[in-house]
Amino acid sequence: AGEKGKASERSFVMIKPDGVSRQLVGKIITRFEERGYKLVAVKSLTPSPALAKEHYIDLASRPFYKGLVDYITSGTPVVAMVWEGKDVIRQGRRIVGATNPQESDPGSVRGQYAVSVGRNLIHASDSFDSASKEIELWFAESELAEYKPTTWDWV
Ligand code: TYD
Repeated sequence: AGEKGKASERSFVMIKPDGVSRQLVGKIITRFEERGYKLVAVKSLTPSPALAKEHYIDLASRPFYKGLVDYITSGTPVVAMVWEGKDVIRQGRRIVGATNPQESDPGSVRGQYAVSVGRNLIHASDSFDSASKEIELWFAESELAEYKPTTWDWV
């Protein structure tokens, strides 16, 4: 991660189990790729309860926390990713849409494909701080690729 707005800015994005089971992985990845973002890391895994709890630790006191953790760890994998590029944290949130799909812009992933907050398909870091925490939580430094997309000649 670099300074805000720099091409090196990175966001943690996770397709949740409902996105995987509904076979929306390709469509979701395509949105980030076609926007011009660079895929720095990607892996499919079933998170351990410890990992899921830590990822959502800020929501630990909320009534939906246990259900959320149970769902993320249910056995259907998630697709964890790091995307890089200019303003990717803020733009990633716009691509994903509002937390409650009933409020999400219809052009967003949640607004196009989801109707329920408990099955809203995808996570994207909501700030610079959470992006760096989440990337460190989910990935080892050695898993983060260094390369320049050919489409980045204009960067
Ligand atoms: P939150 O971090 O508030 O939203 P976002 O994913 O948009 O950053 O909440 C994390 C997840 O918790 C959210 O994606 C879905 C779930 N959740 C519920 O199940 N019920 C709720 O009322 C809220 C606010 C979130």
